[in-house]
Amino acid sequence: MQTIQAVTYPVHFHNNSYQELSNLIADKNYSTIFILVDENTFEHCYPKFIPNLSTDKTIEVIEIESGEINKNIETCIGVWNAITELGGDRKSILITLGGGVITDLGGFVASCFKRGIDFVNIPTTLLSMVDASVGGKTGVDLGVLKNQIGLFANPKMVIVDTDYLTTVTDREIKSGTAEIIKYGITYDVKLFNEIKNNKDLNINDLIFRSVEIKNEVVLQDPKEKNLRKILNFGHTLGHAIESFYLESEVKENLTHGEAIAIGMVCECYMSSKLLGFPSDKVTEVKEVILSIYDKTNLLKEDFTAIMDLLKHDKKNVNGQVNFVLLNDFEDYKLDCKVSEELIIESMEFYNS
Ligand code: GLY
Repeated sequence: MQTIQAVTYPVHFHNNSYQELSNLIADKNYSTIFILVDENTFEHCYPKFIPNLSTDKTIEVIEIESGEINKNIETCIGVWNAITELGGDRKSILITLGGGVITDLGGFVASCFKRGIDFVNIPTTLLSMVDASVGGKTGVDLGVLKNQIGLFANPKMVIVDTDYLTTVTDREIKSGTAEIIKYGITYDVKLFNEIKNNKDLNINDLIFRSVEIKNEVVLQDPKEKNLRKILNFGHTLGHAIESFYLESEVKENLTHGEAIAIGMVCECYMSSKLLGFPSDKVTEVKEVILSIYDKTNLLKEDFTAIMDLLKHDKKNVNGQVNFVLLNDFEDYKLDCKVSEELIIESMEFYNS
């Protein structure tokens, strides 16, 4: 496993990755190195990371609280204040060491600080390895509305070191698996079949192939005008469901992947009704998903709130919800309009 060249930056998978990072720091002569962590990555990942970094520059660690609930502009202000108090300037670099919240928020913080400082992503969860850390999307949530504030900005480098996966829970691994399933369904059915057959799965290969796919898509459509929208498969309804659980004071939050997995089942169902996506494949997707994730009971009385949240999806135009749906595996149709009745029916199908 070597390096995948993204549009302006490398994604390193190899043993010399940290040497590449140390070289980057020396070549660019950064003034201060800021490392953004949360309490978990500070405890479990930072001790693995720091001995690998060879530099005589000043290193400052900034810790934020973990969790999607903290992926907001208030946390960004805290980080900007910390960078300022610690003497950050335009020649500083921010290294994000964490999951999707850290890489998304950190990239956004870096891109706005003094109109932009360099950043490097070191994802520590499966989700951030296969999705969030690559592709140049940065941002934060607005209340419970996911990723409403943000910009496209590319890191200088991404390092994928699967050693960090020993620090995360099975539930986190399953969360990232949903994004791999998404790549399989929309782009490379072989990948979906590997997960389905669940034999001799090599996590390193799955991650490498996922990043390859994401990169192929992003290279063709970096700003999500067309093809990149396929990466939102399952996310339109999935984000609304995720936000609904985030907002609820009584229900336990779903992970991103758990919500997206429900979204994929529902969106396959919508695809079968609107585009003739084969119904045996809807069943297949549902079975694979339910073999990995516990079933969530979506309550009828919650459908209205979920529908309301759906109206805030970033892909909506003129108040119209836009879905990416499938004619078949690897065969998509963008910007599909779906009636409220069918969306509700798809959630009932998931429940059934
Ligand atoms: N996570 C979807 C994308 O990066 O486009």
